[in-house]
Amino acid sequence: MSAHPPVPRAVLDGIPAYVPKPPQPPATGTSYRLFLNENPCPPLPSALAAVSRAAQRTNLYPGIFPDELTDALARRLDVPLSHVVTGPGSVGIYQQIGQAMLSPGDEVVYAWPSFEAYPIVVRMAGAVPVEVPLSDAAHDLEAMAAAITPRTAMVLLCEPNNPTGTAVGAAELKRFLDRVPEHVTVVLDEAYFEFHRGPDAPDGVELHRDRPNLVVLRTFSKAYGLAGLRVGYGVAHPRIAEALRKCAVPCGVSRIAEQAALAALDAEDELLRQVAGITAERERLRAALGARGWTLPPSGTNFLWLPLGEDAAPVAAALERTGLLVRAFPGTGLRITVGAPEANDLLITALEGIRSDR
Ligand SMILES: Cc1ncc(COP(=O)(O)O)c(C=O)c1O
Repeated sequence: MSAHPPVPRAVLDGIPAYVPKPPQPPATGTSYRLFLNENPCPPLPSALAAVSRAAQRTNLYPGIFPDELTDALARRLDVPLSHVVTGPGSVGIYQQIGQAMLSPGDEVVYAWPSFEAYPIVVRMAGAVPVEVPLSDAAHDLEAMAAAITPRTAMVLLCEPNNPTGTAVGAAELKRFLDRVPEHVTVVLDEAYFEFHRGPDAPDGVELHRDRPNLVVLRTFSKAYGLAGLRVGYGVAHPRIAEALRKCAVPCGVSRIAEQAALAALDAEDELLRQVAGITAERERLRAALGARGWTLPPSGTNFLWLPLGEDAAPVAAALERTGLLVRAFPGTGLRITVGAPEANDLLITALEGIRSDR
């Protein structure tokens, strides 16, 4: 072994490592994946048909960018083509954002806890995370505005917030955006946009029209049920959008993903009916758990947040023994995806049992 092996960039020391592991044997018994905020509904037949058609051409590269999807999104959102950016999931676009818009030493303000990719994107760029604690599980926009300094290059805002599900109102968000200096990039992550509509819900695409510093991210992974195909998009003014495209992996969105996303856009009415079913289940679950003594903040997403503090890990372990796989944030809380009704019923029963044992 060489005494002087190559040394990866020092910033990677601050980033969690993925340790490759051998394939796990399939779990016995029924288990429910309630830990990744996936859509419990299977793909629509029209999306599967599009996948199957596109699969006939897997000997060919897709386009460098998915031009057909980009065009469809621009028309759907009524924005110029030059404002649309695509990537292999919105996490792919986050990497592009880090590369295109952050330099070592820049400060990046975001709430915490929020989307787990934030500290990774920031540290990867050698930038400095400035984490602003949530207040009552929701963004403290006053404190976030106060955390902006002359060194701030970016604000990351997850609306509604993952993992707590909480949403800020449109007027409050607008007031906040008006306070952010125009040279600071604001990334508004609307991964759960479709689960939180209504007169008071913000719409990032509308907000971006007169805000050249705003980047809006959305995804086909949640409401559109295509998490396994990896396709997301962003909307931004051309200077930023062009920079993000420069940092994209060429051909990063597969033809299969592009065609499935187009089919999903075509079937939007059907998907939005599914979303309505999931949000109705979310409210049923929240009411049932509330009636059994659990405290949960309102959610504008497809998941619920149980602020359990030190009980988070043991409660997650107890749920796992009943086949319910939820996401524990040790010392903070549990994030539970709204599943199919059968999984939600099991969850209510399991949490009732856990409550009476405590
Ligand atoms: C807030 C937020 N943004 C982005 C993503 C990632 O989405 P994608 O599957 O498009 O990479 C998630 C996934 O859970 C999320 O919660």
